[in-house]
Amino acid sequence: NRILLLNGPNLNLLGKREPEIYGADTLAQIVETLAEQAQSRNVELQHVQSNSEAELIAAIHSAMGEVDFIVINPAAFTHTSVAIRDALLGVNIPFIEVHISNVHAREEFRHKSYLSDVAVGVICGLGVDGYRYAIDKALHTILKN
Ligand code: DQA
Repeated sequence: NRILLLNGPNLNLLGKREPEIYGADTLAQIVETLAEQAQSRNVELQHVQSNSEAELIAAIHSAMGEVDFIVINPAAFTHTSVAIRDALLGVNIPFIEVHISNVHAREEFRHKSYLSDVAVGVICGLGVDGYRYAIDKALHTILKN
Protein backbone atom coordinates (compact mmCIF):
# COMPACT_ATOMS: atom_id res chain seq x y z
CA ASN A 1 0.00 0.00 0.00
CA ARG A 2 1.19 3.45 -0.88
CA ILE A 3 0.24 7.09 -0.24
CA LEU A 4 1.54 9.90 -2.41
CA LEU A 5 2.14 13.22 -0.66
CA LEU A 6 2.36 16.17 -3.04
CA ASN A 7 3.50 19.66 -2.11
CA GLY A 8 3.28 22.53 -4.55
CA PRO A 9 5.23 25.72 -5.14
CA ASN A 10 7.14 27.51 -2.39
CA LEU A 11 6.51 24.77 0.17
CA ASN A 12 10.21 23.89 -0.11
CA LEU A 13 10.66 27.14 1.85
CA LEU A 14 8.66 25.93 4.87
CA GLY A 15 10.36 26.96 8.09
CA LYS A 16 11.77 30.09 6.45
CA ARG A 17 8.73 31.33 4.55
CA GLU A 18 6.31 33.63 6.45
CA PRO A 19 6.73 31.56 9.64
CA GLU A 20 3.90 33.49 11.33
CA ILE A 21 1.55 31.90 8.77
CA TYR A 22 3.21 28.59 7.93
CA GLY A 23 5.11 27.70 11.11
CA ALA A 24 8.72 26.89 11.90
CA ASP A 25 8.94 23.26 10.77
CA THR A 26 10.87 22.51 7.60
CA LEU A 27 9.34 20.35 4.88
CA ALA A 28 12.01 17.69 5.49
CA GLN A 29 11.02 17.45 9.16
CA ILE A 30 7.33 17.28 8.31
CA VAL A 31 7.80 14.59 5.68
CA GLU A 32 10.02 12.49 7.95
CA THR A 33 7.33 12.42 10.65
CA LEU A 34 4.59 11.60 8.13
CA ALA A 35 6.67 8.80 6.61
CA GLU A 36 7.03 7.26 10.08
CA GLN A 37 3.28 7.62 10.64
CA ALA A 38 2.57 5.68 7.43
CA GLN A 39 5.36 3.16 7.95
CA SER A 40 3.98 2.25 11.38
CA ARG A 41 0.96 0.87 9.48
CA ASN A 42 3.11 -0.73 6.78
CA VAL A 43 2.14 1.86 4.22
CA GLU A 44 4.80 3.53 2.10
CA LEU A 45 4.77 7.32 1.85
CA GLN A 46 6.08 8.69 -1.39
CA HIS A 47 6.74 12.45 -1.46
CA VAL A 48 7.11 14.94 -4.29
CA GLN A 49 7.53 18.68 -3.83
CA SER A 50 7.72 20.77 -6.96
CA ASN A 51 7.49 24.39 -7.94
CA SER A 52 6.49 23.27 -11.43
CA GLU A 53 2.92 22.50 -12.41
CA ALA A 54 4.17 20.11 -15.09
CA GLU A 55 6.18 18.07 -12.57
CA LEU A 56 3.23 17.83 -10.20
CA ILE A 57 1.03 16.63 -13.06
CA ALA A 58 3.68 14.09 -14.07
CA ALA A 59 3.80 12.80 -10.48
CA ILE A 60 0.00 12.44 -10.47
CA HIS A 61 0.11 10.54 -13.77
CA SER A 62 2.85 8.22 -12.45
CA ALA A 63 0.67 7.44 -9.45
CA MET A 64 -1.98 5.76 -11.60
CA GLY A 65 -2.27 2.13 -10.58
CA GLU A 66 0.64 2.57 -8.11
CA VAL A 67 -0.85 4.66 -5.33
CA ASP A 68 -3.97 4.15 -3.21
CA PHE A 69 -4.44 7.68 -1.94
CA ILE A 70 -3.07 11.17 -2.55
CA VAL A 71 -2.62 13.94 0.01
CA ILE A 72 -1.93 17.22 -1.76
CA ASN A 73 -1.12 20.74 -0.72
CA PRO A 74 -1.26 22.36 -4.16
CA ALA A 75 -0.23 25.73 -2.66
CA ALA A 76 -0.85 28.60 -5.10
CA PHE A 77 -1.90 26.16 -7.86
CA THR A 78 -5.03 25.50 -5.76
CA HIS A 79 -6.40 28.80 -6.96
CA THR A 80 -5.29 28.60 -10.58
CA SER A 81 -4.90 25.08 -11.91
CA VAL A 82 -7.60 23.38 -13.94
CA ALA A 83 -4.75 21.13 -15.17
CA ILE A 84 -4.02 19.68 -11.71
CA ARG A 85 -7.75 19.16 -11.18
CA ASP A 86 -7.98 17.29 -14.48
CA ALA A 87 -4.89 15.19 -13.66
CA LEU A 88 -6.39 14.11 -10.33
CA LEU A 89 -9.72 13.28 -11.99
CA GLY A 90 -7.86 11.49 -14.78
CA VAL A 91 -6.04 9.03 -12.53
CA ASN A 92 -9.15 8.49 -10.39
CA ILE A 93 -7.24 8.27 -7.09
CA PRO A 94 -9.03 9.64 -4.01
CA PHE A 95 -7.32 12.68 -2.53
CA ILE A 96 -7.44 15.09 0.38
CA GLU A 97 -6.58 18.76 -0.13
CA VAL A 98 -4.51 20.26 2.70
CA HIS A 99 -3.69 23.89 3.46
CA ILE A 100 -1.56 24.87 6.41
CA SER A 101 -3.22 28.27 6.72
CA ASN A 102 -6.92 29.08 6.83
CA VAL A 103 -7.27 30.19 3.24
CA HIS A 104 -10.79 31.49 3.95
CA ALA A 105 -9.44 34.01 6.46
CA ARG A 106 -6.98 35.38 3.91
CA GLU A 107 -7.16 37.24 0.59
CA GLU A 108 -10.25 36.75 -1.55
CA PHE A 109 -8.22 35.06 -4.31
CA ARG A 110 -7.39 32.22 -1.91
CA HIS A 111 -11.06 31.43 -1.29
CA LYS A 112 -11.47 29.72 -4.66
CA SER A 113 -10.13 26.18 -5.10
CA TYR A 114 -10.21 24.22 -8.34
CA LEU A 115 -9.91 20.99 -6.35
CA SER A 116 -12.18 21.10 -3.30
CA ASP A 117 -15.40 19.88 -4.95
CA VAL A 118 -13.70 16.75 -6.28
CA ALA A 119 -11.62 16.04 -3.13
CA VAL A 120 -12.62 13.48 -0.50
CA GLY A 121 -12.26 16.40 1.89
CA VAL A 122 -10.34 19.54 2.66
CA ILE A 123 -8.28 20.39 5.74
CA CYS A 124 -7.22 23.98 6.20
CA GLY A 125 -6.11 26.30 8.96
CA LEU A 126 -4.87 23.59 11.33
CA GLY A 127 -1.21 24.28 10.65
CA VAL A 128 1.11 21.47 9.62
CA ASP A 129 -0.95 19.09 11.81
CA GLY A 130 -3.39 19.08 8.90
CA TYR A 131 -1.00 16.78 7.03
CA ARG A 132 -1.04 14.28 9.91
CA TYR A 133 -4.85 14.27 10.02
CA ALA A 134 -4.99 13.73 6.27
CA ILE A 135 -2.52 10.83 6.39
CA ASP A 136 -4.52 9.34 9.27
CA LYS A 137 -7.69 9.45 7.15
CA ALA A 138 -5.81 8.00 4.16
CA LEU A 139 -4.54 5.11 6.33
CA HIS A 140 -8.04 4.43 7.65
CA THR A 141 -9.40 4.41 4.11
CA ILE A 142 -6.68 2.16 2.69
CA LEU A 143 -6.63 -0.27 5.63
CA LYS A 144 -10.43 -0.15 6.02
CA ASN A 145 -10.50 0.27 9.77
C1 DQA B 1 -1.29 27.20 1.14
C2 DQA B 1 -2.28 28.34 0.91
C3 DQA B 1 -2.13 28.90 -0.50
O1 DQA B 1 -3.07 29.96 -0.71
C4 DQA B 1 -0.74 29.45 -0.70
O2 DQA B 1 -0.58 29.89 -2.04
C5 DQA B 1 0.33 28.49 -0.32
C6 DQA B 1 0.14 27.62 0.84
C7 DQA B 1 -1.31 26.70 2.61
O3 DQA B 1 -0.78 25.62 2.85
O4 DQA B 1 -1.84 27.38 3.49
O5 DQA B 1 1.40 28.48 -0.92
O6 DQA B 1 -1.66 26.11 0.31
